[in-house]
Amino acid sequence: MKYFIGNWKMFGVPRSINILNKINSFRSRDKNRNKYRVIITPPYTLIESFVKHFRNKKIMIGSQNCYQKDQFSSNTAAVSPYMIRSVGAKYTLVGHSDNRSEGDTDLMLRDKVKFALRNNLKVIFCIGENKSQKKNNKTFSTLRRQLTKVLKKEFNKKNIIVAYEPIWSIGTGKIPNQKDLLKTSIHIKKVLKTIFRKNSPAVLYGGSVDENNIDMFREIKEIDGFLIGGASKSSKKFIDIIKNYYR
Ligand code: PGA
Repeated sequence: MKYFIGNWKMFGVPRSINILNKINSFRSRDKNRNKYRVIITPPYTLIESFVKHFRNKKIMIGSQNCYQKDQFSSNTAAVSPYMIRSVGAKYTLVGHSDNRSEGDTDLMLRDKVKFALRNNLKVIFCIGENKSQKKNNKTFSTLRRQLTKVLKKEFNKKNIIVAYEPIWSIGTGKIPNQKDLLKTSIHIKKVLKTIFRKNSPAVLYGGSVDENNIDMFREIKEIDGFLIGGASKSSKKFIDIIKNYYR
């Protein structure tokens, strides 16, 4: 099963549901539809209405983040995994580099993953090296640290997906070369196997994926899907990514 996940970031108002309607109608006609899953993470403000609209349809809704506490607390503007699940979201991103750069620590991320899983959310856990870590050959050690500090063997790996998103690639149009990406995804799966024993959770790639460069990614079978930012705000681009992937 492959994943095409659209991360809308700070984008979207109620009428933006039209984008998803188009993706949904493409998907329902697509002969390859059973080979992949579509998940969209809109801002919190749209989760409930999108969930209601797509109930019984094949587009799943997730949140972009969650607070590192379980249910209710006195943290202004925070939204807990329990609250996200209560409006019907099935997934949440955790550890996106946007949030890491705003102060999310490994310890906070571990609690986010723990409480999200406890509230029946599947977690899309984001990792990735920055430009200087890449330049100094620290990619593998950075990714190993990000994974082992947060993911624990007691977590249910069936409900975890890892998204590898090199920070230097997010929103820049730059993507890793095929050989590096292959090596890095094998490394990530190896580390995940040491945490969880045997099977690794799915590993996605994210960072400047679009309808033109998807051809390069489809040849790397270790990659189980994509986390797509900018291009997920256009139904045409998002659909073309899927079309070109299965061409
Ligand atoms: P991008 O964003 O596709 O716009 O590079 C990816 C992400 O941040 O999840």
